[in-house]
Amino acid sequence: MTLLQPSQPHLPATPVLTLGHSVLRQVAQPIMSTATAAKDRPLQQLIDQMLDTMRAANGVGIAAPQLGRALRVLVVASRPNLRYPHAPQMEPVVMLNPRLIAASDDLEMGWEGCLSVPGVRGRVPRHRVVEVEYCDRDGQPQRQVWEGFVARIFQHEADHLEGKVFLDRVQAETDLLSEAAYQAIEVADLP
Ligand code: NI
Repeated sequence: MTLLQPSQPHLPATPVLTLGHSVLRQVAQPIMSTATAAKDRPLQQLIDQMLDTMRAANGVGIAAPQLGRALRVLVVASRPNLRYPHAPQMEPVVMLNPRLIAASDDLEMGWEGCLSVPGVRGRVPRHRVVEVEYCDRDGQPQRQVWEGFVARIFQHEADHLEGKVFLDRVQAETDLLSEAAYQAIEVADLP
């Protein structure tokens, strides 16, 4: 998921695939060798490339299919910014083979954007709280409970691993805006 700051240049370190590339619609494959992930040079290079690209684009998350790799690798990296001044600051969490193991029944609506869907914003429902299991980049099993904005980022990125984008979850015509219209509304008054 990305939150572009209009005043900053948008220069991804690696070209990000945009909607229409078939990889974005594929179900990504698991990392088979998590036990040896720390020594897996191509995997570590892919992770570094994802982190660099996400940072360069002022993103708060990224998934491997966006770089053309149909692998179950994603990053969640919330931080405060112009759009979400109260977003939690966190170190980026790299997740191999992430798995949603529990989710709250209650859903929250929220606006999302995506580097793979430039120029468009959509308001989509997400579970407010999620519990997830994954392996970190060293292959160690981990578990996390996230809520609110961070839970939203996780769900957005996990969708990429299933060949989905946030547009697929938009429920009403009025929940789809151009970036320019979104900015105008936001400046006016978005909650
Ligand atoms: Ni995205």
